[in-house]
Amino acid sequence: MITFSKDKLDQVAEIISHYPEGKQKSALLPVLHIAQNEFGGWLDVPVMDYVASLLKLEPIEVYEVASFYSMYNLKPVGKHVFEVCQTGPCMLNGSDDIIDYIKQKLNIGVGETTTDGLFTLKTVECLGACGYAPMMQLGKTYREHLTKEKVDAIVEECTQISLTP
Ligand code: FES
Repeated sequence: MITFSKDKLDQVAEIISHYPEGKQKSALLPVLHIAQNEFGGWLDVPVMDYVASLLKLEPIEVYEVASFYSMYNLKPVGKHVFEVCQTGPCMLNGSDDIIDYIKQKLNIGVGETTTDGLFTLKTVECLGACGYAPMMQLGKTYREHLTKEKVDAIVEECTQISLTP
């Protein structure tokens, strides 16, 4: 049975307490983040149903939100998720080439994960760092002014992290 740890349940209760009675839906985004982190980096239907029950929502309300935002993963992802911005300013500064290079280097398409489970490639809309285009999000960091050389270095960095016990 899917359930948060006591610690996470306390965190959820604290987030819900920020909103007026009956407005617990406002807590949905942060609670989905907790769920995604807690349950393997993606949101399976039973996990979304669990979040719906916690927030007293209809499951469809959770599915709608989780499927709208690219920050939520609706299928399993690799340990390192490359979320490359493909909106105008990044595109004009070469994001298409960067995406193609990552596809070729990792031998995966957009939305796919390498067979070793290390890398997933996603394309996303503007991440608000247009002045640093082309860019991508990697975990909690932004990687900016991307070049093929920088992609090589990032892949190497992630590989090393994964090899570290
Ligand atoms: S267009 Fe890529 S960060 Fe804004």
